[in-house]
Amino acid sequence: MYALARSLLFRLDPETAHRLVVSGIGLAGRVHPVDQYLADLWRGRLPSQPVRAMGLTFPNPVGVAAGLDKDVEAFDGLALFGFGFIELGTVTPLAQSGNPKPRMFRLTEHGALINRMGFNSKGLGHFLNRLGKTRQLAVTGINLGKNAKTPIENAVSDYLSGLRAVYTAADYVTINISSPNTQDLRSLQQDAALDRLLEALKEEQRRLAADHHKYTPIAIKIAPDLNDEQLVKIASAVVGHEVDGLIATNTTTARTPSIASHRHAGESGGLSGRPLADTAREKVIALRQCLPQAFPLIGVGGIDGADSAIAMLDAGANLIQIYTGLIYRGPSLLREILKGMENASPH
Ligand SMILES: Cc1cc2nc3c(=O)[nH]c(=O)nc-3n(C[C@H](O)[C@H](O)[C@H](O)COP(=O)(O)O)c2cc1C
Repeated sequence: MYALARSLLFRLDPETAHRLVVSGIGLAGRVHPVDQYLADLWRGRLPSQPVRAMGLTFPNPVGVAAGLDKDVEAFDGLALFGFGFIELGTVTPLAQSGNPKPRMFRLTEHGALINRMGFNSKGLGHFLNRLGKTRQLAVTGINLGKNAKTPIENAVSDYLSGLRAVYTAADYVTINISSPNTQDLRSLQQDAALDRLLEALKEEQRRLAADHHKYTPIAIKIAPDLNDEQLVKIASAVVGHEVDGLIATNTTTARTPSIASHRHAGESGGLSGRPLADTAREKVIALRQCLPQAFPLIGVGGIDGADSAIAMLDAGANLIQIYTGLIYRGPSLLREILKGMENASPH
């Protein structure tokens, strides 16, 4: 059925198709008995494969990656498909429109996308208002960003205001310092800037945990365009600051030779989907080698079937996320992955 929907959706420009799908899923999650139908047909039939990580229990290890539901429009509907967790956002403190359109491109033959959305966000106020109206049926990650207008030297204050605002509503919070589409954002992954950010976040987290009698774990999301030396430094910083998890990876600014001749290959922005899979998995392998065994690692990038999902878990990820694969394969991708994992497991 998704193949038919896809052939219609792919006639539209990618962002219009995206908006339509997000609104449709949002509506399905709100309209009775469609929601019940979704819950029975999809969620009810999935194998349960619980995972403990970051002090939380995930019903299964497959989540929706950030960027798909930036403004909490489809949350309940997405949850009814049975994802193990859903990462909302990136949300910025103030509303901003992002980069000029067009800013999302399909590389259909490669199962890939290039995007330079630039954190289009309706802002924290709108985000929390929407979240308050949902049934919050899934483990809820909230991914935080900074406003484009905030100078990079003041980025910490944007992340802190985000953390304070979403602290009680989130099951975990992601600090996104790896989008390629916000100027200088990725510089926060480096040495002193990273130290300063992590220190401020952990201090605020301690204060909030004491005030609210609730500990909300913090994960840091990093780019695939980091070398081994940078990964070692990041691993040591997150362990040193007692950060709760790492998410690897965001989209890449690199262009693999396989897509070089595609008409959209020259578009600026982050590449996601199949061409990213090997790099993202290699980063997870490298991180796993320099992190303590139990350190929670979320693997994301180019997962488009059971094989690539299992490979990411074998690489050392405790949990995985999908985005571009969902656009190309539809929601049955979740079931395919969970069934594949069930068959691959020795029990
Ligand atoms: C259109 C689009 C928008 C995205 N927006 C965000 C975002 O707002 N925040 C974020 O952390 N990652 C964002 N991402 C990155 C994804 O969460 C994910 O890390 C990346 O696409 C790799 O996974 P994939 O190959 O399964 O898509 C976005 C990706 C796409 C394709």
